[in-house]
Amino acid sequence: MNYVIGSSGKGGTGKSSFMALSLKVLLDQGKKHILMVDADPDSNIPDLLDTPVQKTVGDVCCDLMDRMSQLPPDFNKKSHIESQLFEVLYEGDAFDLLVMGALEREGCFCYINTALTSILDNYIGNYEYTLMDMPAGLEHIARRTDRNVDHLYVITDASKMGLLTALRIKELSQKLKIEFRKVYLVANRITESAQEYIQQYAEKNGLNLMGFIPTDPLVQEYNLVGRSLLELPKDSSAYQAVSEILTKTIL
Ligand SMILES: Nc1ncnc2c1ncn2[C@@H]1O[C@H](COP(=O)(O)OP(=O)(O)OP(=O)(O)O)[C@@H](O)[C@H]1O
Ligand SMILES: [Mg+2]
Repeated sequence: MNYVIGSSGKGGTGKSSFMALSLKVLLDQGKKHILMVDADPDSNIPDLLDTPVQKTVGDVCCDLMDRMSQLPPDFNKKSHIESQLFEVLYEGDAFDLLVMGALEREGCFCYINTALTSILDNYIGNYEYTLMDMPAGLEHIARRTDRNVDHLYVITDASKMGLLTALRIKELSQKLKIEFRKVYLVANRITESAQEYIQQYAEKNGLNLMGFIPTDPLVQEYNLVGRSLLELPKDSSAYQAVSEILTKTIL
């Protein structure tokens, strides 16, 4: 099986932390052939995993843009980007990491974006699990940059805005007829008193609530000092909650 899972939701709700903790759950279960893709231009995954990355896919695209006028008309941009991807990919002992990064040049990136997405289409077939940390908001759904994701975890916090964004993501996914995709709601940084309201909200609005993640002081502490979330102890409350959610959905 080839599982592609992604995170989505309002800004700051815990999407990247959820993906980092999911990676830890998969590794602790002995899973192999895992690719983590940081698809947020404001990338955080290298920090959350304390895995420094030298070069991003965006860097490769920008280099190419800079040299475009000097290249022969029949230059194969797709295979050039593909060959460069192997340089950009961080290959660890336990997992690989690809950071998309930002496209920092003006101009038309349509061709490069299309080439990249199609390369990713082929690329993730080499892995058993691909985890994609998406940017906040709905744009990735509208633009279909997350088209490979077949298990989407929409993360909300205990706020009206978080829940509304989750609802819009579900509705947009339905409108765009991404029927094969499973969309789950995960409520993060939740106190017990907020649980009932969120549960009722989810039921009323047809959101597939998969679980609650409590506020975990260790997650905050590791983030502050730049310690990898992969080193969290297994009795961390957030880790245990993520583990339960993955067991219910993909494990
Ligand atoms: N369960 C949790 N317990 C405690 N702190 C948490 C928890 N989940 C996330 N955080 C903290 O909340 C902050 C935001 O988390 P994170 O960066 O994962 O959110 P995000 O949704 O990816 O943000 P962005 O929209 O900027 O990409 C971080 O400081 C993180 O450490
Ligand atoms: Mg993030």
